[in-house]
Amino acid sequence: MTNDIVITDVGPRDGLQNQPKILTVEQRVQLVKAIAKAYVPKIEVGSFVSPNAVPAMADTDQVLRALASEPDFITPCLSLIPNMKGYEFARDAGAKTVAMVLYASNGMAQKNASMSMADAEEVTLNILRLAKLDGIEVIATVAVAFECPFDGPSDPAVVQAIVAKFLQAGANHVVLADTIGAAHPQQVRDMTATLVQSHGAEQLGCHFHDTRAMGLANVYAAVESGIRRFDTSIAGLGGCPFAPGATGNVATEDVVMMLEQMGFDTGIDLTLLLQASDIAQDLTGALSGGRSKTWLMGHLLKQ
Ligand code: COA
Ligand code: ZN
Repeated sequence: MTNDIVITDVGPRDGLQNQPKILTVEQRVQLVKAIAKAYVPKIEVGSFVSPNAVPAMADTDQVLRALASEPDFITPCLSLIPNMKGYEFARDAGAKTVAMVLYASNGMAQKNASMSMADAEEVTLNILRLAKLDGIEVIATVAVAFECPFDGPSDPAVVQAIVAKFLQAGANHVVLADTIGAAHPQQVRDMTATLVQSHGAEQLGCHFHDTRAMGLANVYAAVESGIRRFDTSIAGLGGCPFAPGATGNVATEDVVMMLEQMGFDTGIDLTLLLQASDIAQDLTGALSGGRSKTWLMGHLLKQ
């Protein structure tokens, strides 16, 4: 089993969508470039959603175009989409990878995208067909994979069925999202172990929020099952405006520090990552959600 970990920093999307301060396109590009400079291998740079629903994500097309015109910028970028219109906007803006949202509950599907779980599945199947022709990679993200703020605990059998269906349908990866940060490590271990046994780990990823301070423990549980792909957020920024009570994602700094100390290889430069974290905080005015930064600053500065 590989020791290489693939981190996707979702701060410029999941983080910024929930901040009271709305950043300009230039500021969003500045943040993405700072994260890329730390050798973070993949970055979710925005979403193609209704600007009325999420004003902070308006003009993601301009963010993508600005990054594409940077001569030295080579980091693969993802964009989140909630529906076919989002796919079309992303494709027209030159997106190479889209993350389409699926749901383990009808309550969340309705609140987030005004559709049912079944509708989201059907739309995703259509997007997969188009994306194949368009040469676009599709990640299927299963929202509320552990618990829904409206419908309560999610049924693991439902999640397993969605994962199986979309891997079979040709999704490049499937990501289990603990949208409100309600999962505990035993649940994560059970779910990921079962899925890895059925499908292998290569195409599976996890996305944890740190609402109940179990984000890092959940990453550990998933790693123990063989998962090697994680969504994390610079400075722990994050949260879903449509999922009450959800706070930031587990901080990229914390996950990288823990996994590197355990002997895994993320390829990320922690010193440069802390500079990106400073920029994230300066731009948003948010406090750092990560726990490791204070210690890391003292430790890395001494080296
Ligand atoms: N991007 C931009 N605009 C979109 C869009 C998209 N992906 N999908 C629909 N729209 C526009 C429609 O064109 C329409 O515009 P109009 O009023 O000018 O005609 C308007 O949004 C409403 O469209 P409708 O199909 O009735 O959608 P809705 O009002 O039921 O909202 C979503 C559905 C999906 C557009 C909206 O709920 C949304 O953007 N949700 C985002 C959720 C999110 O980002 N969650 C956090 C990440 S998981
Ligand atoms: Zn999230």
